Amino acid sequence: MKFFLDSAKADEIRYARDMWNIDGVTSNPRHVRNSGKPFLTAIRDIAREFEGTGKPISVEVNPHHLTAEAMVEEAVKLASMSPNFVIKLPATEAGYRALWTLSERGIRVNLTLVFSAMQALQAARLGATFVSPFVGWKEANGEEISHLVQEIVTIYRNYHFKTEVLVAAVRNARQIVEAAVAGAHIVTAGFDVFKEAFDNPYTAMGLKRFSDSWDATPYE
Ligand code: E4P
Repeated sequence: MKFFLDSAKADEIRYARDMWNIDGVTSNPRHVRNSGKPFLTAIRDIAREFEGTGKPISVEVNPHHLTAEAMVEEAVKLASMSPNFVIKLPATEAGYRALWTLSERGIRVNLTLVFSAMQALQAARLGATFVSPFVGWKEANGEEISHLVQEIVTIYRNYHFKTEVLVAAVRNARQIVEAAVAGAHIVTAGFDVFKEAFDNPYTAMGLKRFSDSWDATPYE
């Protein structure tokens, strides 16, 4: 399973790359705003961190676009900026239409804001590289999420779609593990979610216990 970092902050991205061997990055307009940089500067800076690696960086088109034509125009421009860029489009009718055009042109798309298996099925039919079900948003709304990822994975296996399931808006270690058990290809999560998920209080407790024993034992 691959881990992507959900961020547009250069310091977080560098840390995740150098300490965790992160497999890619996903960004959205909220992350870019939080980076404090203009959009193009922020995405160019991320691209620089992964130059020559082939690791995917998802960048989202202007969410105000209402037509497929407008989405395609911006997507083509963004895709030409870095071979790492995968274009995020929303799961709307215009988004699907733009996805179809872009996949025919060989431009990779991450279909985002996906909340149902039906949306994920249409995305795969039209050639999406990644499809991003937002599990955290659904769970925060009191909805059960494990079946959604399981259904998408099963559908993709049934029909041998190459589209990868990128479980997004992940909030904790349990959701990461559930996504892995369901067979998702990728999870994307924020910096703090991964940092906490890699840790466990029992590890710290055990280390303290063993350190105390070590200190009470002569070395030779
Ligand atoms: C995924 O690609 C999205 O950027 C992300 O997971 C959105 O969720 P959040 O901003 O609520 O974490």
